[in-house]
Amino acid sequence: MAACASFAKLDALSSSQWIGHQSFSQRPSRLSSPHRISFSVRAAAGFSDELVQTAKTIASPGRGILAIDESNATCGKRLASIGLDNTETNRQAYRQLLLTTPGLGGYISGAILFEETLYQSTTDGKKFVDCLKEERIVPGIKVDKGLVPLPGSNNESWCQGLDGLASRSAEYYKQGARFAKWRTVVSIPCGPSSLAVKEAAWGLARYAAISQDNGLVPIVEPEILLDGDHPIERTLEVAEKVWSEVFFYLAENNVLFEGILLKPSMVTPGAEHKEKASPETIAKYTLTMLQRRVPPAVPGIMFLSGGQSEVEATLNLNAMNQSPNPWHVSFSYARALQNTVLKTWKGLPENVEAAQRSLLVRAKANSLAQLGKYSAEDEGEEAKKGMFVKGYTY
Ligand code: 13P
Repeated sequence: MAACASFAKLDALSSSQWIGHQSFSQRPSRLSSPHRISFSVRAAAGFSDELVQTAKTIASPGRGILAIDESNATCGKRLASIGLDNTETNRQAYRQLLLTTPGLGGYISGAILFEETLYQSTTDGKKFVDCLKEERIVPGIKVDKGLVPLPGSNNESWCQGLDGLASRSAEYYKQGARFAKWRTVVSIPCGPSSLAVKEAAWGLARYAAISQDNGLVPIVEPEILLDGDHPIERTLEVAEKVWSEVFFYLAENNVLFEGILLKPSMVTPGAEHKEKASPETIAKYTLTMLQRRVPPAVPGIMFLSGGQSEVEATLNLNAMNQSPNPWHVSFSYARALQNTVLKTWKGLPENVEAAQRSLLVRAKANSLAQLGKYSAEDEGEEAKKGMFVKGYTY
């Protein structure tokens, strides 16, 4: 982000707090004139107020994010699970089912889209972005370009997409997107190496600064994969390390904390660990990690589901909302909102309404969990099926 002399005043904060011209005095020297280092930064390019407002809207009580930003290849996996070909028409039909669900905005505040969907319309010619706005759902966009091997690491990966990100983000804003998502991963069984953690954190911070500079609230997502047979204590240790590096580099890049959202993994034992943890234990470890690492200036924590069953993901979220938190603690689920919907739809037009009802059931369950009022009593068997896939790629 280029340095320039302008100031960005944060109206959201007290008038005495500024991002911008900062000046540090060194200890008095023997020289007669005080030696000063002075520099100025430009943060969020004048979008500060809008970013804060967008983040607050997404982090509103009883609402969370519907993540349907699967790349075409990953959407193909979803469609293949119900015997459909991965064609643009089928992807459009599936996204249309999800995004035109009546009443969705009561539980969903934001929807993360893949680029194809951001520019797509319903079969009747209504832009998907407009369908969302009518439900008071903020449109978001996946901006990363996926994972590739990280040379010099222990079989780990890094996330591409910074080249051209500023101009792409400006275009996405024009198309109606107001927030962005960048997902990188950290693997516990592969180390993680300090190189991989640093690369993940630096990439997220650069992306976050560029997004804010173009009016998009960045969702910061270093997914710590569920893979492994380690205990929950090891996940806590890795999560603390990852988030400390992420916040270090976010600060270095002058990212406005009031204008970001986080998308962490819950702190759980590895998927192949001998014992499962209860929702209460997962909530305790996850909130401990967040309290130690995340400043209260951050408005919202929007968890990913990472292969947990629909019911598990909802129960864990509910357990985290049994007492007040400094941030809005909510969901940004893909698999844990889509599983039953897909199984109900089966690609048949006559099942669309039933599939939309099942999306509302899951969205409402997670809305209640955000408020700490969910009970799993009436849940069906399909929603209890785990979706963990070893070495899953998005
Ligand atoms: P899951 O909830 O399927 O883990 O989705 C994660 C994600 O990043 C989707 O945007």
